[in-house]
Amino acid sequence: MTTTKLPPADALVFFGATGDLAYKQIFPALQSMIRHGHLDVPVIGVARAGWTLDDLKRRAHDSLTEHGGVDDEAFGKLMDQLAYIDGDYADAATFRALRDRLGRAQHPLHYLAIPPTLFGTVVEALGSSGCADGARVVIEKPFGRDLASAQELNRTLGSVFPESCIFRIDHYLGKEPVENLLYFRFANAFLEPIWNRGYVRSIQITMAESFGVAGRGAFYDEAGAIRDVIQNHMLQVLALLTMTAPSEHAPDAIRAEKGRLLSAIDPLRPEDVVRGQFAGYHDEPGVAADSTVETFAAVRLHIDTWRWAGVPVLIRAGKCLPTTGTEVLVELHHPPIPVFDREHPGDPNTLRFTLSPQVEMGLGARAKVPGEKMVGENVELVARHEHQPDEMPPYERLLGDAMRGDPTLFAREDSVEAAWRVVEPILGDATPVHEYERGTWGPAEADRLLGRGDRWHVPKGTGAP
Ligand code: BG6
Repeated sequence: MTTTKLPPADALVFFGATGDLAYKQIFPALQSMIRHGHLDVPVIGVARAGWTLDDLKRRAHDSLTEHGGVDDEAFGKLMDQLAYIDGDYADAATFRALRDRLGRAQHPLHYLAIPPTLFGTVVEALGSSGCADGARVVIEKPFGRDLASAQELNRTLGSVFPESCIFRIDHYLGKEPVENLLYFRFANAFLEPIWNRGYVRSIQITMAESFGVAGRGAFYDEAGAIRDVIQNHMLQVLALLTMTAPSEHAPDAIRAEKGRLLSAIDPLRPEDVVRGQFAGYHDEPGVAADSTVETFAAVRLHIDTWRWAGVPVLIRAGKCLPTTGTEVLVELHHPPIPVFDREHPGDPNTLRFTLSPQVEMGLGARAKVPGEKMVGENVELVARHEHQPDEMPPYERLLGDAMRGDPTLFAREDSVEAAWRVVEPILGDATPVHEYERGTWGPAEADRLLGRGDRWHVPKGTGAP
């Protein structure tokens, strides 16, 4: 399948210019893009804060002082390129001003760094003001809060922009080690013959965070771990790990295989889910006193394909766990007959991908202990990438790709909806929530998802205890 390539964007508009996302992520990304020579078009911030351009410039300076540092030269250029439009999103005059400010730009990029409740208003106004002509739109997760609202959002976006011009940011897809999953799988020949139910015994993905809701209580209490990270980041990682090889390195070839894989995952049943909430969550600002929202979730998934049928896939993600890091562990079957170490056969072979905090791949195997006896030990061959000092953070990478018109690392409509279909039956209070102590691996009830003799994988590459 070939995709018609979009022309490079010739203006970057970001709505929500005075907001939190702009402060923490967008200004640092913009300055860095300029430093790398990747942004030389007008940058227009839009917000309804009653601010002036100078106010926004000060805010940009504060943002960079706090997040990554001010690079005088790049910052100066950014300030020269920056314009600001202050206005209400419900007011047509705001969009007329934007249209004027866009001048001769024919392919603007509109980044909606605003609450999802405003997407519809802004998208429709972009359409009716002519600002959407030839343009593309970038939106942030959450893409809806269930299947119906995701479909509604996709309809709204689709009424103004063609799918090829909609870029849904899942920042996990902008992470180097997540891209490496795809590269490692399909740039090597040795993996494919064993990457199936005949050899793979189980798959585990752990996304652990040692901190709590970090001041985002009001947002988090509307979401919970399943909506916040499992429906998106974790299922996207799983798709890259288990999808079939794309026919070519082309955006839609890759995204089609991801979509197919996600559609083959059975919707979760309550018995495949354990939810937890850390003790003291109710005391977090913004959290309802009787909240049953989960800060931890463990799920057991089944991928209904010839390749993966019967292979348990376990994902667990949570806040206030013993460490911070994300790791994938693929465990192979034991050899069919234990020739050595009959009493203590040791661990089965494993492939480990640490996605954060550092980038590591490990191949777990058995090797003989030197000496007369034919006894072995578990060893691991490890490849580690050091983070490069000038490595592009996900937001810079993704914004740059969207500006260039490359949609490979963005979530397509079909995969977003397929992922909602997987979690839909277990959203909300479909299952009980169990309290767990901070600094532990979640509620003990999660153990019931394990097969006989199995245990939860404690991420190795995160320095976890
Ligand atoms: C975000 C979630 O999407 O991802 C947060 O809303 C989570 O709750 C974050 O902490 C994790 O991303 P990263 O890149 O910091 O591991």
